[in-house]
Amino acid sequence: MPNAQRSPRYAWIEENHEERQESFAASVDAGLGSEAPSLPCRFLYDAKGSALFEEICDLPEYYLTRAEHEILANHADAIVARCPSPAALAELGSGSSSKTRLLIEAFLRRQGRLRYVPVDISRTALDDAAKALLADYGGLEVLAIASEYSEGLRHVGRETRLPKLIAWLGSNIGNFERSEAKGFVRSIRDAMSADDRLLLGIDLRKEAKVLEDAYDDPKGVTSLFNKNLLARINHELGGDFDLGAWRHRARVVEDGGRVELGLVCERPDEVRIDALEQEYSFSPGDFIHTEDSIKYSPEEIAELADAAGLGVEERWLDSDERFSLTLLSAR
Ligand code: AVJ
Repeated sequence: MPNAQRSPRYAWIEENHEERQESFAASVDAGLGSEAPSLPCRFLYDAKGSALFEEICDLPEYYLTRAEHEILANHADAIVARCPSPAALAELGSGSSSKTRLLIEAFLRRQGRLRYVPVDISRTALDDAAKALLADYGGLEVLAIASEYSEGLRHVGRETRLPKLIAWLGSNIGNFERSEAKGFVRSIRDAMSADDRLLLGIDLRKEAKVLEDAYDDPKGVTSLFNKNLLARINHELGGDFDLGAWRHRARVVEDGGRVELGLVCERPDEVRIDALEQEYSFSPGDFIHTEDSIKYSPEEIAELADAAGLGVEERWLDSDERFSLTLLSAR
């Protein structure tokens, strides 16, 4: 059962914490026990991981944030103008909501008031973001939903009466395999009525060097972000990973279409995880796959939209043509 709280301008819904904790343990058990060890990337985002991700967004090498910010800064009013008035704004994977401010401001310029429904897996990131937004914008009302995407999407459908713009920014779609992405975008489409719009921020395929720098930064923030997954297993599941025995690796594959992220074992690590009553023995060269970041060509984005039953209203690129924003509607 979701846990809900209400106050005049700020309400939130949180999916059951214990269930999420169980799912963390079960996923770690399944992932580390498999022949090609992996850990699901959604567990990267505890409070520490979300803070590290914000730090990644500020790195000069991580061009995605700035490119998307540039597009929103130039076109937020045009995006809003393509939505019915008044409309609500929902967001999947909202994090700190910092780029979303550009959309919020554009909505407030047009309609004076706005209901904003952010969905994020990190409760702390959501709460911090909502409080900051409410302090800055008097016309804003926030319903924060702490959950994974699919449950979040269900709440979004129930909690917005007005036509809505659903924003899924930051190339968060990149964590899904291509076919899963199609399926999930299709499920977004199924939750949309004719007046609703979907705004998709997607990173474009590009040369390997740019991607390598973005996903293996010289300051080592991305490495810390990745290793935080092991730290989390240590803290929350009573594990004893030796973080120093592992090295962050970002490998660009599929012609700049996918960055495969993971941890390479550099010295033997005998790991005991109390909550799972399991031991794992890792040797140099062993790899734990933690995340994929999938990139699309403009043609692939058009195909994705089409396969999901969505029509392209308009598409914008940043001036370096690294990143795309696409506004879609249900067909
Ligand atoms: C949050 C999935 C968009 O793939 O660029 C950044 C995550 N991982 N650096 C991305 C990430 C390492 C990010 N997304």
